[in-house]
Amino acid sequence: MALQVSVSVHRVGAEARLDSDTWMDREVVIKQRVVKGYRHPVIDKNLQTSRIKNEARLMLEARKGGIAVPIIYSIDLAGNRIIMEEIKGVRVKDALQDLPYPRAREICEKIGEISAMLHAHDVVHGDLTTSNMLLEGDRIVMIDFSLGSKTSEIEDKGVDMHLLEEAFHSAHHSRAELFDVVKASYVHHYERGDEVLKKVKEIERRGRYTRKE
Ligand SMILES: Nc1ncnc2c1ncn2[C@@H]1O[C@H](COP(=O)(O)OP(=O)(O)O)[C@@H](O)[C@H]1O
Ligand SMILES: [Mg+2]
Repeated sequence: MALQVSVSVHRVGAEARLDSDTWMDREVVIKQRVVKGYRHPVIDKNLQTSRIKNEARLMLEARKGGIAVPIIYSIDLAGNRIIMEEIKGVRVKDALQDLPYPRAREICEKIGEISAMLHAHDVVHGDLTTSNMLLEGDRIVMIDFSLGSKTSEIEDKGVDMHLLEEAFHSAHHSRAELFDVVKASYVHHYERGDEVLKKVKEIERRGRYTRKE
């Protein structure tokens, strides 16, 4: 596989680096897991491999559930990387604040719908925040499934929605009330949505209780 030298570094996260590149005449993003170096090399390698497989598998599961995700062009297990379609969009986190209110509302309806579709398909994202949603024209593309799992557990879905709420309130505090739109849309599109949101309340109560101790 011939790869050009990367042209721009998107962001170097703690666990992965993201590069824009051209691959077989396509504009791609290469997500490469960074080897931490403080674990045993064999354990490290096995962990990286299983995380990449997990991320790719969940992206495919999400796609099967009708959720927009980047196309995966190649999974390079030896090189710890996934080569995927580059989404020409902005993070919902960066867009939501400045959009006209009705448009922001629409986006929030979509966030609720996408979360519902993921959960109805038993995909728990694991890092469900507006940083991991890219707005490309009218569609929202979900990324970063590295912490995700395939499960029907209401508790895990509750943790997903709890994280989404916390991240939403901190990133979009001036439009925090729009999370009600997210929740209404989630419940509308997922038959077990009410159950999950009850679980979120329980998780919040537990959190408050533990913090007091
Ligand atoms: N397919 C993609 N197309 C365009 N940008 C992407 C793509 N994948 C990731 N990015 C950009 O890189 C950032 C980090 O990627 P992400 O998969 O969320 O990794 P991390 O685990 O570091 O959060 C994203 O917030 C987004 O800005
Ligand atoms: Mg991310």
